[in-house]
Amino acid sequence: MAAKDLGALRLGIAGLGTVGAGVVKIIEKHGDMLAMRAGRAIEITAVSARDVAKDRGVDLSSYDWVDDANDLASRTDVDVVVEMIGGSEGLAYDLVKAALSNGKHVVTANKALLAHHGFELAKLAEDNNVSLAYEAAVAGGIPIIKAMREGFAGNQIDGVFGILNGTCNYMLTAMRETGRDFDVILKEAQDAGYAEADPSFDIDGIDAGHKLCLLSSIAFGVKPDFGNLQITGIRGITAEDIAYADELGYRIKLLGMAKRIDGELMQVMEPCLVPLSNPMGVIEDVYNAVFVACDALETPLLSGRGAGEQPTASAVMSDVVDIARGFNVSTFGIPADQLQDPNWMALEDTHGRYYLRLMVLDQPGVIADISAILRDENISIEGLIQRSRDPDQPVPVVLTTHDVRHGALVKACAAFKALEAVTEEPCLIRIEELE
Ligand SMILES: NC(=O)c1ccc[n+]([C@@H]2O[C@H](COP(=O)([O-])OP(=O)(O)OC[C@H]3O[C@@H](n4cnc5c(N)ncnc54)[C@H](OP(=O)(O)O)[C@@H]3O)[C@@H](O)[C@H]2O)c1
Repeated sequence: MAAKDLGALRLGIAGLGTVGAGVVKIIEKHGDMLAMRAGRAIEITAVSARDVAKDRGVDLSSYDWVDDANDLASRTDVDVVVEMIGGSEGLAYDLVKAALSNGKHVVTANKALLAHHGFELAKLAEDNNVSLAYEAAVAGGIPIIKAMREGFAGNQIDGVFGILNGTCNYMLTAMRETGRDFDVILKEAQDAGYAEADPSFDIDGIDAGHKLCLLSSIAFGVKPDFGNLQITGIRGITAEDIAYADELGYRIKLLGMAKRIDGELMQVMEPCLVPLSNPMGVIEDVYNAVFVACDALETPLLSGRGAGEQPTASAVMSDVVDIARGFNVSTFGIPADQLQDPNWMALEDTHGRYYLRLMVLDQPGVIADISAILRDENISIEGLIQRSRDPDQPVPVVLTTHDVRHGALVKACAAFKALEAVTEEPCLIRIEELE
């Protein structure tokens, strides 16, 4: 029997910056191949951005230019709105809501939008029997959404761990390789175009946090919950901590973690010591990686380029081809109505091993004072490194602990700070063995 001719799938692209222009380039370059794979042509009918005169390195003359991107949501010659504008509120939010309500599929790379409004938008997509697809929103070109939602559908997922921000990973790698400190490397990253002029979204862990919420949602069947995510970025990491971590056999990574622990769920984004013996430990530079704890498949790791024009556009196109093929799956893997309100473990109740660096004046009795505080909080030390330097300068005392409740260490740190010999805020970093 001959297949029904569905006609071309018609796209309206809103946003023609890095990713939007990359999508146009792939469609122009691979039109025939995409049509073959999708079983129908994929065509762009209309495009929109702020500045019609801007050179975007692509010929847009055969597409309708739309001044107000919102109009794409109601055009009868658009089947899919490809939202490549960004931002959790305003135009992107209004456009996606209108498109879904009008029965149009949406493909987006916008993690901020989904981390804040994912549940509402997933429900809207379902109510209108259309797709809300977002492969490009997490880890750029790595097909982690498809892997977790479709590929791992036969597994109970007990944990997901991600290096989800290329800028942070690049900076931590550069700090380790050069021994230079955070501020110097940040300036270099900004000059090289790897970090934004306002880098806070990246280095404070917000961008990676948005992505983690989407992975947690798929892993545990919960609503994306950015509001309750505990986030620590990488501003407090020094080259000295990175060097000590190396000496101990670890790398410091900004790690998004969502785990199931004795029936409870934990979700946190923070720098961690990751063992060099684990493949996550050697993910360097701008690369992203996601490590998933599955019960049948065990521990698959996906890594690759987490950002950039072509890797991100590649992920957008995988969603477009899925839609062209008629594939439609619940946004977060289960019907939106069945997504639970998550009840996350409080950070202070989480357990783990920790790295702790104190800067202290090299005076008699200091180590005894530190040991007494640890004893009072029932914290046992696994290892200690202390090297003397200039006797008039503070020296680092580096401890690693056995398994301990986070809250106990926070109390101990408050007590360390009150010691006269402690000269700086203690540096506390979780050791995540990824087991
Ligand atoms: N860049 C990456 O590597 C990457 C990776 C993964 C996900 N993402 C996500 O992809 C999305 C797009 O990112 P991007 O890097 O491509 O951003 P971008 O280069 O800044 O492009 C944004 C586009 O949106 C348009 N735009 C902004 N405000 C608008 C408005 N009010 N009306 C109409 N158009 C407007 C801009 O128009 P003009 O060009 O005329 O100014 C521009 O074309 C974001 O959600 C981002 O988080 C990006």
